Amino acid sequence: LDFPSLFLSDKKIVTIAHRGASGYAPESTLSSYRLGVKMGADYIEIDVQMTADGELVAMHDTSVNRTTNGKGAVKDMTLAEIKALDAGSWFNEKHPIYARDDYANEKVPTLREIFEAFGKDTRYMLETKDPEDSPGMEEKMWALVEEYDLRKYVAVQSFSPASLLKIRTWDKDVPLFQLLWYNRPARISERTLSEIGEYANGIGANYLRINEDYVDKVKQSGLLIYPYTVNYQVNMENAVKWGVDGVHTDFPDRLLEVIEEL
Ligand code: G3P
Ligand code: CA
Repeated sequence: LDFPSLFLSDKKIVTIAHRGASGYAPESTLSSYRLGVKMGADYIEIDVQMTADGELVAMHDTSVNRTTNGKGAVKDMTLAEIKALDAGSWFNEKHPIYARDDYANEKVPTLREIFEAFGKDTRYMLETKDPEDSPGMEEKMWALVEEYDLRKYVAVQSFSPASLLKIRTWDKDVPLFQLLWYNRPARISERTLSEIGEYANGIGANYLRINEDYVDKVKQSGLLIYPYTVNYQVNMENAVKWGVDGVHTDFPDRLLEVIEEL
């Protein structure tokens, strides 16, 4: 496959603001995304989920319990129910040093609101979250990408190969990343790499379980590697030394500082 539109940062290492600049502001809110864009991240990362009434919202957990003052599963709640929740106060309580009054009444944003807010001022790393539980999610997401003319501004990642394959049939160029999570030192076979290479441009894997050999192997297969989620500069420096192509971080400013010194 040929991927002519694949974005490579002019700084060579792509900075992905994970759930926005979520180290400094309530994750997956417009505040967090605004800060990620302001800091100069190449992408803002958005976990996309679908509500009971078929609206796409940004939220990581499948339930609203941790990051709002409500309770329940996103897929069982209507957008109106989700919009009634406070998605910022938990952050102020948990991170007093970064607390701000205006975070207190943050709302869960829809994907449309995020596209509306940032348009072509950033790139979007969209993650289809548990797509098997929300059939039709990819169709709605892609329709929105087209409505806002953002095909060249998005990449898509997922733990679900089926979800990525679906998107590949609609767009042969959009950068796709297969997410992998390891609970022990990571190893990957030639066969897996070649299967992923059939539809994706790269791999996202948890930083703590990978090493230089893993990165080498992925790169030799022609795939990109974007480890997640790297928040300390010492680890960012390691990842950069190993030759990663991008890094997911809650603190994009820290990564940009590391890259600046290269
Ligand atoms: O960006 C990669 C990462 O987002 C995947 O893990 O759980 O943070 O969505 P998670
Ligand atoms: Ca994610």
